[in-house]
Amino acid sequence: MTVHFIGAGPGAPDLLTLRGRDLIAACPVCLYAGSLVPEGALAHCPPGARIVNTAPLSLDEIVAEIAAAHAGGKDVARLHSGDLSIWSAMGEQLRRLRALDIPYTVTPGVPSFSAAAAALEAELTLPGLAQTVVLTRTPGRASAMPEGEKLAAFAATGAVLAIHLSIHLLEKIVAELTPHYGADCPVAVVWRASWPEQRIVRATLATLDAAVGAEMERTALILVGKTLSAADFSESRLYAADYDRRYRPVGAEPRFPEVS
Ligand SMILES: C[S@@+](CC[C@H](N)C(=O)[O-])C[C@H]1O[C@@H](n2cnc3c(N)ncnc32)[C@H](O)[C@@H]1O
Repeated sequence: MTVHFIGAGPGAPDLLTLRGRDLIAACPVCLYAGSLVPEGALAHCPPGARIVNTAPLSLDEIVAEIAAAHAGGKDVARLHSGDLSIWSAMGEQLRRLRALDIPYTVTPGVPSFSAAAAALEAELTLPGLAQTVVLTRTPGRASAMPEGEKLAAFAATGAVLAIHLSIHLLEKIVAELTPHYGADCPVAVVWRASWPEQRIVRATLATLDAAVGAEMERTALILVGKTLSAADFSESRLYAADYDRRYRPVGAEPRFPEVS
């Protein structure tokens, strides 16, 4: 018996990996983390599967579900939205499973920041403008921020910020970021990226608060940084005609001669 932790993606049912889909189809028990997990993912459960929404359960109750499946020799598909590496609460579940000697696997998913960038048709790391993306959030009731992980500290680097779990705090975000990025810094909010009702708002730090309607609550990502509206950036050296690289050696004495 194995518990398969699966990143279920940002919402669109076809943004689930093939591995995730096949594991769901093979597990007689499916535990899924509430409304953010796409219903389309649950459609892959085999007929008669036990399907449990864990949103109203405590960690003890979730572990009890897994322990019962373990006792019955039933594999479990454990679904979380997006990818499992950020804000999935997988870490605490894995620690319990290790203590109980219950085997598990981890299958990645498409994170919401990728889905949001795709919706914006944006490369977040443009040469000369930004080469770092910070995946972050503001403090919430369930999770305080460690000392030092302040928005202003990340902003001081000029990196692109992908701010999660914070759409209700726009005023505070604008106040913290404006001294670093400037009032005209481009911002995009993507609400329910990849869902049929997806919405995009493009603004600047100065206009953001007024541009985002109250209906865009909860499942939204705020992206801040120069690359969001840049037309004026350098081209990557990777494809430059005179750039000597292993698969495209250049010149009389290339640094990477072709191997015959
Ligand atoms: C608990 S976190 C889960 C993050 C998830 N593990 C991931 O990989 O993106 C929930 C937050 O992720 C963001 N989020 C998740 N799905 C989203 C989507 N489809 N569109 C926009 N933001 C989304 C929102 O900021 C939301 O408040």
